Amino acid sequence: MKGIVLAGGNGTRLYPITQATSKQLLPVYDKPMVYYPLSVLMLAGITEILLISTPADQPNFRRLLGSGSQWGLELTFATQPQPNGLAEAFVIGRDFVGDDRVALVLGDNIFYGPGFSVTLRRAMAQLDGCVLFGYAVKNPEHYGVGEFDAAGRLVSLMEKPVKPRSDKAITGLYLYGNDVLDIAAELTPSVRGELEITDVNREYLRQGRAQVIDLGRGFAWLDTGTHDSLLEASQFVRVLENRTGVRIACLEEIALRMGFISAGECHALGEKLAKSAYGDYVREVAVAAGGAA
Ligand code: G1P
Repeated sequence: MKGIVLAGGNGTRLYPITQATSKQLLPVYDKPMVYYPLSVLMLAGITEILLISTPADQPNFRRLLGSGSQWGLELTFATQPQPNGLAEAFVIGRDFVGDDRVALVLGDNIFYGPGFSVTLRRAMAQLDGCVLFGYAVKNPEHYGVGEFDAAGRLVSLMEKPVKPRSDKAITGLYLYGNDVLDIAAELTPSVRGELEITDVNREYLRQGRAQVIDLGRGFAWLDTGTHDSLLEASQFVRVLENRTGVRIACLEEIALRMGFISAGECHALGEKLAKSAYGDYVREVAVAAGGAA
């Protein structure tokens, strides 16, 4: 399975912060935002990843992430010159995906919860069509929204409906079969002039091949779209990390635990970040796993 991180857009809702930098490079407490969606793909066991950004921001993503080989990943970079919609990821990424299946994650989405990697791997194993992830929110009108019948089956999908038919937002993580490439290629732009991911998902729903997994209570799906939600996401990560001593979305640690890199390699990565507490953490994790002390 391939992975795509879509980190495009102009981040206009965060102006002036995002006038000179990509939203997905902004910090969420101790690490750049894009680490969080990258960690989701890594936890799913995906190592071949395409990162799509604006042309202006691409050099900075390359500077931050490099080839990905330091984390046992194979990163490829592509650009989305205009914000033409999320589904354009499959037009841009067509050759990259090839004849594989693909997971798309939005570069500004943060997922945190127990058993998430198990949920992901189970969903990948039973994937036929598309798997979406639903999450109950107070303000569903800001998202894609799923409607379900009494038996819990998905019956409709709407993009930012004025009157949502449920409180279940469709989060920015999507698993697709290879036919997503053809479905995206045939889409027509919405009234907003964009290739909507919700239209892709609706096509799967029409075919009876769309499944929604409810992330459930006790799970955290965080938004970073406004000044307040960006700060709240940082606060959430800070409180959890300080309380438990465990870092969320630490790519070095995940690469080690997934077996993508050795403890020695992990330690060397920590050395490079030596002056930060994040770097100390990476070294501690490596030492505990038998890497150089
Ligand atoms: C996009 C999707 C929406 C989804 C959301 C998740 O909206 O169009 O369906 O619920 O991401 O973050 P955007 O944030 O691009 O407005």
